[in-house]
Amino acid sequence: MNSLTLFCPCAAGVESYLAQECRAILGGEPTALAAQRGGVSLQASWSEMMQLNLRTRLAQRVLIQVKSGFYRAEEDLYTLAKSVPWEMWFKHEQTFKVEITAQYSPLKSLNFAALKVKDAVADRFRDLKGVRPSVDVKWPHVRIYVHLTQDQMLLSMDTSGEPLFKRGWRLDKGEAPLKETLAAAMLAASGWEAQSGLALYDPCCGSGTIAIEAAQIDCHIAPGIFRQFGFENLLPYQASSWQTIKNRARQEERAPTRAIYGSDVSHRMVDFAQQNAVRAGVAHAIEFRGGDALVRMPPCETAGMLMVNPPYDERMSALGVAAAGKGLGRERAQMNSAAAWEHKGPARERSHAPLGALSGDQARAPAADTAASSSDFFSLLASHWKKNFSGWQAWVLTPNLKLPGQMRLKESRRVPLWNGPIECRLFKFDMVKGSHTGVKKAGLEA
Ligand SMILES: C[S@@+](CC[C@H](N)C(=O)[O-])C[C@H]1O[C@@H](n2cnc3c(N)ncnc32)[C@H](O)[C@@H]1O
Repeated sequence: MNSLTLFCPCAAGVESYLAQECRAILGGEPTALAAQRGGVSLQASWSEMMQLNLRTRLAQRVLIQVKSGFYRAEEDLYTLAKSVPWEMWFKHEQTFKVEITAQYSPLKSLNFAALKVKDAVADRFRDLKGVRPSVDVKWPHVRIYVHLTQDQMLLSMDTSGEPLFKRGWRLDKGEAPLKETLAAAMLAASGWEAQSGLALYDPCCGSGTIAIEAAQIDCHIAPGIFRQFGFENLLPYQASSWQTIKNRARQEERAPTRAIYGSDVSHRMVDFAQQNAVRAGVAHAIEFRGGDALVRMPPCETAGMLMVNPPYDERMSALGVAAAGKGLGRERAQMNSAAAWEHKGPARERSHAPLGALSGDQARAPAADTAASSSDFFSLLASHWKKNFSGWQAWVLTPNLKLPGQMRLKESRRVPLWNGPIECRLFKFDMVKGSHTGVKKAGLEA
């Protein structure tokens, strides 16, 4: 178990950040580390595989490659799969599941291909032990991954179990939560961790994913510390060495070193975010509030980093001032100009602090029939940031590639990232200090 070939899949666009993360987790240059399309491969020991599962924020899972070979037809898949010593990895009393992916495979049915591999695994156990292990498609003890290219089959043992974006702390999903791995990719792309002392603020925080990931990074809390992993069901697993790895991770935890804030127009979401932060061990490291992103003032005096995945479609349309209709908007914006960040009372109470004269839930009320068009929302947001957030850097994740134009801002960086199947860009806008009157300095497009 000292030289395993691992493949860590990740979202497209994240490969180079993941390769960097693997170096940081394993300390140095891992053997045969290579960023490939859709993931990173490397050689590692069993203990390093456990470390990666525990500490990666960017990988979707960690796979051990156990066999590869040429195939032409389903029978070849059966023969290759039957030649793998599965009995080294799990017992016939355990349940298993075969997952299959393919790129340019000439086979007609991937389901049938998966069935052939499933039969090969079960038949191998029957030949050796006289019993076939059972399949459980929902909660298997063991997952086997098959990847088919045009003529190659790759067989892997999964060591993660539930996908790694499930950190084990999310209780309340909210309406459109960002995957934890994507929030971590936004943070990695922004270089926030390396900018010591820089505050972070998500003004449309929803269930709190970005703020919680950031706070865990700052507090050195390993992302997998609250969950279980697939490798715990595999035969080479030894509870004592896993416990040692977890204990070491716990000893590295530290107090927050910088300020992190989140707010959302929906007080219900703020409540979810607060509960999630408690479960993620970072309630003390984040201040959550209710409030409309279009009127919320900076939460701290020193300029920091705004990071947000704003509402982006009809389902998630912008609420608050922008939604209140053109007539009401100005009035409400004035009422809400008192929406400065008050630093009083415990976080839980603060999350319900009134937002000027308009509470988040009142702000939500008119949304059913008057949700803001996204271009209204973004142009108002840009004006608000230019006026009140000078000196801040703003990172915005969106599937709308025309967003800079709609905000009349020129981005200083654009990072391609995928939110599941949706192609997005993470735009960076620099709100240059003292620029709110100067169109050019504020980064406005000519
Ligand atoms: C795409 S979701 C963000 C999801 C979040 N990143 C998470 O991990 O759960 C957009 C969020 O924007 C909030 N929102 C909509 N209009 C807003 C406004 N005017 N001010 C602040 N938040 C707003 C919604 O309530 C929703 O929670």
